[in-house]
Formats: sequence, C-alpha cells, structure tokens
Amino acid sequence: MTLRLPDPRMERVLLTESQIDAVVGELADQVAADYSGRDPVLVTVLRGGLFFLSDLCRRIDLPLTVDFMAVTSYGPGAAGSVRITKDLDDPVEGRDVLVVEDIIDTGLTLNYLLRVLRQRRPASLAVCTLLDKDVRRLVDLPIVYRGFSVPDRFLVGYGLDLEGQWRELPYVATLKDEIWERG
Ligand code: IMP
Ligand code: MG
Repeated sequence: MTLRLPDPRMERVLLTESQIDAVVGELADQVAADYSGRDPVLVTVLRGGLFFLSDLCRRIDLPLTVDFMAVTSYGPGAAGSVRITKDLDDPVEGRDVLVVEDIIDTGLTLNYLLRVLRQRRPASLAVCTLLDKDVRRLVDLPIVYRGFSVPDRFLVGYGLDLEGQWRELPYVATLKDEIWERG
C-alpha cells in the first residue's frame, strides 16, 4: 500500500500505523507483566509524548494513573539547559514512575527530568520510549522499554513535529534531507 504523504517536504513513511500499533501492544504487555500487582504512574512530556502515552496506557491491563510535564530547552547540545514549564500535578513519592517518551535523541532532556524525579523519591523510576535515535545518545539512561531504533533523520508524525505541525499523523515519516540539515 502506498500512502499519499500530505506534504512534499516529507520523504517517506518510516513506520506505518500498523507497525506502530503492533509494537505499542508488545510494550504494553511487557509493562503489564513487569508492574503486575502495582499501579504505576505514567509520566509524559508534553506535547510529543501525549500520542504514544494515550495509545500505550489503553493497552496496559493494570490500574494506572497518568500525569504530565512540559519543558523548554535552551541552547544547543550539551551546553543546553532545561527548564520545567509545567510540573506534575501529583506527588510521585513512593510511586512506581514510568516515564513515557516519544523519542530520545541526545537524551539530555530526559536525563535532566530523571534527576528531578529521582529527588522526589519514587519507589521506582524507568523509561519507556517508542523511538530511540541511539546513535545520537550523549548520556546513559535507564531505558527499559524501547519500541524502535531509528536513524539520525528528522522525523515527524505520531507526536513528532516540525514547528508544531504533523503531530497528529498516525505514522512516522522522514523529511527530505534538504528540508532539514543538522546544524
Ligand atoms: P534530546 O534531549 O536530544 O533527547 O531531545 C529529545 C527531544 O527532541 C524529543 O522529545 C523531541 O521533542 C525532539 N526531537 C528529537 N528528534 C526529533 C525528530 O526527529 N523529530 C521531531 N522532534 C525530535
Ligand atoms: Mg519529547
């Protein structure tokens, strides 16, 4: 099946809706098995992680809660710092916290967030990411659940955006190289 892409700046579909759906189901089953008898809180970072979280949590056969954070990053790469612009609504002390991410690139944003969350003394803290741009990683992270390893390309769809656009696409697509060159 060939999908008609909605914009000429997109190159091709990297992950189809059904590929994503299958992997989300597998991740949900793993989480349900590992957290059996507990009621984890799934924490995601707005706005990109919302789409994955929404699909994932509906397929985890466990009682759970969800909570949200938002962050802004300043400056490029390792020199960049992160500021929380929206914090969690509820305390996580003593809770099993599973951070749900759309994509991990350098890992710097998540590394900062994990430090903040750890200080709040959760019972456990783990990471579930749908996409992992692992060749770009600069820091070690406790990623327990990983959907797909993806290449170092700019991706859009299923939560990922270019200047706010295309998060709502049900698949993940690559952009053409000339649209996005890494600085
Ligand atoms: P990190 O701190 O470098 O890991 O940045 C991770 C964040 O960068 C993600 O949560 C996304 O918001 C953004 N990001 C990384 N790669 C992509 C991409 O290919 N498309 C869209 N956003 C991306
Ligand atoms: Mg994100």
